[in-house]
Amino acid sequence: MANALPSPAIQLHNGVLIPQFGYGTYKVRAEDAYRAVRDALEVGYRHIDTAEMYGNEAQVGAAIADSGLARDEVFITSKLNNPYHEPQAARDAFAKTLDDLRIDQLDLFLIHWPMAQTTNYVETWQTMLEFEADGRSRAVGTSNFQEHHLRAIIDATGVAPALNQIELHPYLAQRQLVQLHAELGIVTASWSPLARGALLSDPVVLDLAQEAGRSAAQVVIRWHLQRGLVVIPKSTHRERMIQNADVFDFELSAQQMASIDSLDQNRRVGSHPDRVELGDR
Ligand code: A2P
Repeated sequence: MANALPSPAIQLHNGVLIPQFGYGTYKVRAEDAYRAVRDALEVGYRHIDTAEMYGNEAQVGAAIADSGLARDEVFITSKLNNPYHEPQAARDAFAKTLDDLRIDQLDLFLIHWPMAQTTNYVETWQTMLEFEADGRSRAVGTSNFQEHHLRAIIDATGVAPALNQIELHPYLAQRQLVQLHAELGIVTASWSPLARGALLSDPVVLDLAQEAGRSAAQVVIRWHLQRGLVVIPKSTHRERMIQNADVFDFELSAQQMASIDSLDQNRRVGSHPDRVELGDR
C-alpha cells in the first residue's frame, strides 16, 4: 500500500475536511469497481466518490473493507438517487447506502439531482439534514443544484449544502455558480473534470502539456486544483490513476491557467439539471 497522496484538504462549512483530490466511480461498472477501488487505494487515493445510481456501492464498500485502511483514513461520498426523494424513501435509501458500503457513517451524502419538476427537493434537503444531525453522515450537500435550487433550500432551512458537485471542466467553467458557492460558503466539486476525456485531445491542452512536460490529464487536473475545486477524475486503468494523482509537484503559471480558461464555451458532456428524468444515469 502506497502512502496517502499529498492532496491538500478543504474545510467544509461545518469544519469537516475533504481531500481536494479523489477518485470518481461514475461509469465504473460493478464488475470492475472492486478492482478499480482496490487499485486506487493501493496507489494512495483516500477519497472515493460513488452513488447509488452508479450501481457499484457494494463493490466499492467491499474494496474499502478489504483494503486494510482504517475507516477514518478514507473519505467516502455517496448520493441519494432520484427515485428516493420522498422522506421515508430517502431514509431507507440512506440506510441501504450505509449497508452496501459496509460502514456506519458516511463522510458526505449528496442529493444527486434536484429533480425539481417531480420532487419537493426542499423537503428532501430537510430529510438530508437529519442524517448529519444523527451523526450518520459527517456532512451533507447537493449535486447538480443551480442558483435557484440553492436559494430555495437555504431560504427554507437556513442551512447551505456543505458542497455542491456540478459538471465542471475547462469547456464548462461555471464561473458564476462557483462565485455564488463562495459567497454562500459552499465548496465546489467538479464532476467529469476531464470532460469524459474530450479535453485530452484539445490542441490548447496538448500544447500546454508539452510545455509543462506533463500529460494532458495532469494539466487539466492542475487547473481544477489551482481553481480551488474538489476534483475526482475517473480511470479504470491503474497506470492512469497513478498519472492523474501525480500532480502535486508542479504548478501552472497564471498565463497557462489563462490559456485553459479561454476554452470555456458552456459545453456540457452530461445532462442539464433541468432535464434529468427518473431512471436517467
Ligand atoms: P479510462 O477509465 O479508460 O482510463 P472524467 O473523469 O472527466 O469523466 O473522464 C474520464 C474519462 O477519461 C474516462 O474515459 C477515462 O478512461 C479517461 N481518462 C482518465 N484519465 C486518463 C488519462 N490519464 N489518460 C487518458 N485517458 C484518461
